[in-house]
Amino acid sequence: MSDFDLKTYVNDRRRLVDETLDRVLPPEDAPPPTVHRAMRYSVMAGGKRLRPILVIAGCEAVGGMAERVLPTACALELIHTYSLIHDDLPAMDDDDYRRGRLTNHKVFGEAVAILAGDALLTHAFRLVAGNVDGASDARVIADVVAEIAEAAGTDGMVGGQVVDIESEGKTVSAETLDYIHTRKTAALIRASLRVGAMLAGAKPDALKAITRAGEALGLAFQIVDDILDVEGSLEELGKTAGSDQRKQKATYPALHGLEASRRRARQLIEDAKVALVPLGPAARPIAALADFIYERRS
Ligand code: IPE
Ligand code: IPE
Ligand code: MG
Ligand code: MG
Ligand code: MG
Repeated sequence: MSDFDLKTYVNDRRRLVDETLDRVLPPEDAPPPTVHRAMRYSVMAGGKRLRPILVIAGCEAVGGMAERVLPTACALELIHTYSLIHDDLPAMDDDDYRRGRLTNHKVFGEAVAILAGDALLTHAFRLVAGNVDGASDARVIADVVAEIAEAAGTDGMVGGQVVDIESEGKTVSAETLDYIHTRKTAALIRASLRVGAMLAGAKPDALKAITRAGEALGLAFQIVDDILDVEGSLEELGKTAGSDQRKQKATYPALHGLEASRRRARQLIEDAKVALVPLGPAARPIAALADFIYERRS
């Protein structure tokens, strides 16, 4: 395990993703320029690119090639970025900083920020539809579209965001908190790993292992996000710390305390790694990403 260099792995794939994003996003001067500028402003601000890297890692874990899933990897990043732009709006979390810069609506106004988010979501599905050449079998594309739509919709990210907003200022049960976190965040992370594997023609057992790992990783990711909101700073995070307390959000630290939150996240990371064992060395990048999810400071 120790000879695997996650930094190089991530940097190489990040470069592929960033180049592809630049290529597939409409140019800034394409009419109407405002919305295209707004889309690029948030996407090209960076971020960890975790979801597209998980698409690639899911593909590679079952013997696929990164180059073949790049459009779908970028689609997941576009959907994620749309969710961030809308999440930061005054009507939602009302945040001023994201990815180290002013939030989209602060720069472009609320109307354009909403529309830029809509456009990113829509463009994402265009990219997935166009990934047909990279798929092991063209029919898989229909499953991938359904998978991503489900993960992003009311049974996934949007559903989680709704309950997140409705839970502000309330003490929710542990079950409701897990409902929020598994949907608003884990659904898209799980889908990222799964669609990468699906495009590469994963066998049912491999897909099952990847699904279990994705669920655990996804929930751990949001628990750590909650912890970092308490412990991190604007400089480290690129977004304002303390936002959850200000909005009285239902979070892991608020409900379970920091120590129990850390323990739960660590346990989920270990669960993910156990689930990956049957996949052998091909899943080492996912296992290393699991550790990164726990140890990250941003
Ligand atoms: C932030 O996601 C929103 C959550 C789902 C917790 P990331 O922490 O992956 O944000 P970026 O992409 O690195 O900016
Ligand atoms: C957001 O959760 C999850 C999304 C679907 C965007 P948070 O509201 O905790 O994300 P941050 O902390 O603003 O990035
Ligand atoms: Mg939020
Ligand atoms: Mg937020
Ligand atoms: Mg947060």
